[in-house]
Amino acid sequence: MKIYCGKDYKEMSRIAAKIIAAQIIMKPDCVLGLATGSTPVGAYENLVEWYKQGDLDFSQVTSVNLDEYRGLSGDNDQSYRYFMNKNLFDHVNIDKSRTFVPNGLEPDSGKACSEYDGIIESVGGVDLQLLGIGHNGHIGFNEPADEFCKGTHCVDLTASTIEANKRFFEKEEDVPRQAYTMGIGTIMKAKKILLVASGADKAEIIAKSLTGPVTPQVPASILQFHNDVTVVCDEAAFSKLK
Ligand code: F6R
Repeated sequence: MKIYCGKDYKEMSRIAAKIIAAQIIMKPDCVLGLATGSTPVGAYENLVEWYKQGDLDFSQVTSVNLDEYRGLSGDNDQSYRYFMNKNLFDHVNIDKSRTFVPNGLEPDSGKACSEYDGIIESVGGVDLQLLGIGHNGHIGFNEPADEFCKGTHCVDLTASTIEANKRFFEKEEDVPRQAYTMGIGTIMKAKKILLVASGADKAEIIAKSLTGPVTPQVPASILQFHNDVTVVCDEAAFSKLK
């Protein structure tokens, strides 16, 4: 596991963006696994800037996102599809027909999940998977559980995740209670993983995930078993790592 520590969010975002850019340069037709949430926004801003400067070309890139709220359409401004368009896809030359997000509008969860697993398989798996981390150690929406889930599945979001995500909604009641998420098995199959974290509120879970026991109660702890993980955090998120 490689760990890079930037002094603040800006520096951390730049380091993370450089790793994603390197992937695109080394393999222009790569499959990027992408994440939403606050943490990757700065990295996406850097990627957009480098694209605009002519230093990056997304024309052959395919992307698969980690997750989507169940019940939200792509044009709902709280959906993760909308987030990806707004923060990255609308500003670079990626072919949108090759950007995939679970279908939040598919009410049959078995169908939504198996279709998404089929898409990930058909694009040949993920070359570089970007991950944020929840305060409870969730990656994607794989919440603490009794076992690690392999493929895409429908999850009931925990109270702590609903609490953390309510900042994006008008009222807490508006936060969807379920989501479709890529499974831990699929995340672990990515050739490379890039985990990003920022802020003192992530320090404890970063230390626990990277150095504590590997357990489905701390989903990100499974990353200790992946052979190509890079962690990029700022000093605050790094502060409890020994
Ligand atoms: C988002 C996702 C989540 C977030 C995590 C951290 O697609 O899968 O696991 O990465 O909740 O979110 P932020 O970055 O907002 O702290």
